[in-house]
Amino acid sequence: MTAPAARRRGEFPTRPEVHAAHWRPRGDHRHVLNLKSCEMQHPAADRLVTEVLSGLTAREVRGYPYHLGLMERLAEIGGTAVDDVLLTAGSCGAIALVVDGYAQPAGRLLAQEPVFDSWLHYAALRGVPVTRCAGLAGSPPEPVTDELVAAMRTGPPAVVAITDPGNPAGLVLPVPRIAELAEVAAEHGHLLVVDECYGAFTGTDHVPLVGRFPNVLVLRSLSKSWALAGARLAAVFGPAPVIDYLRRFRTDSAVSAPAVALATGIAARLPELRGIWRDVTALRDGFATRVLADHPGWTALRPGGNFVTFATGVPGGGHAVERALAARGIRVRGLDDVAGLAGCVRLSLADRDRMAGVADVLRDVA
Ligand SMILES: Cc1ncc(COP(=O)(O)O)c(C=O)c1O
Repeated sequence: MTAPAARRRGEFPTRPEVHAAHWRPRGDHRHVLNLKSCEMQHPAADRLVTEVLSGLTAREVRGYPYHLGLMERLAEIGGTAVDDVLLTAGSCGAIALVVDGYAQPAGRLLAQEPVFDSWLHYAALRGVPVTRCAGLAGSPPEPVTDELVAAMRTGPPAVVAITDPGNPAGLVLPVPRIAELAEVAAEHGHLLVVDECYGAFTGTDHVPLVGRFPNVLVLRSLSKSWALAGARLAAVFGPAPVIDYLRRFRTDSAVSAPAVALATGIAARLPELRGIWRDVTALRDGFATRVLADHPGWTALRPGGNFVTFATGVPGGGHAVERALAARGIRVRGLDDVAGLAGCVRLSLADRDRMAGVADVLRDVA
């Protein structure tokens, strides 16, 4: 047998789109105060995770994971049936899954700006065209949905991706507005996917929509709100037939036993975790108030997540603050290149003392 002429010896068929994609290792920023990645940096969360970690044994590493107990617990917390939940290795895993399972067959992804990078990445890998719809308008920006709704009303069935609370703006659409989107999606045959990664910090809960609409998925990452970014774990909530279809991709096989044990241990201490969320929001609001007192020309986009996004009102102001803080070992994200957020900068939160120090530096440099 001879190899096809077009293929040289040792060369295998590949997906052409993948060659246009890139990989690089995550940058290691442990030597600076990293207020860019929105990880949970709270002393009580560190204590909670450390205590739960100390209960793990070699069994969690040498044995295969059992996912069902955690799925049941997450379903109970979400107020759904276990048939409505599946686990993925972080919400990036969930996004890849939805692109594979639904966006690729539909051939179309509609996404509300600012679009979380993973949607763009996985859609590009699968050759799925993305229609990006304005999600913010005005100065200071407010969330808008008219473009998205128009695209849903006029286009063929697609996956529709929205992040709420929005990131990096930290603005929230009221749940009834999301329910209206779900209604339009249902009328026109779309699957609406709501990423509520930061919902714990605004009290936003979209999971009840799963019981009302046959075409809504909710992505709930445990990275930020459960202080488990390194464990790589997320829950996807959806109507049982949608979840049943997606489970067949077996994303849980990439969810490790230590991650399951950690989340199970934290789930057993939910009241403590909820207290931490309340404290993060108090810290956020106090930090925003302090910074605004020093910068009367700035606005804070409320409510935020476990971060505050400030509009400086100055073109290029976001990157200017980013550079000024970087020179002092503080990593934040200037947002001048993000649709609708020119002049804005986002700072995620660490403990109170550190944030008081950051406010002092901001007063002096910006
Ligand atoms: C909008 C959004 N969704 C999800 C995530 C979390 O992704 P993962 O669960 O893969 O850590 C992030 C983290 O940066 C995010 O900003």
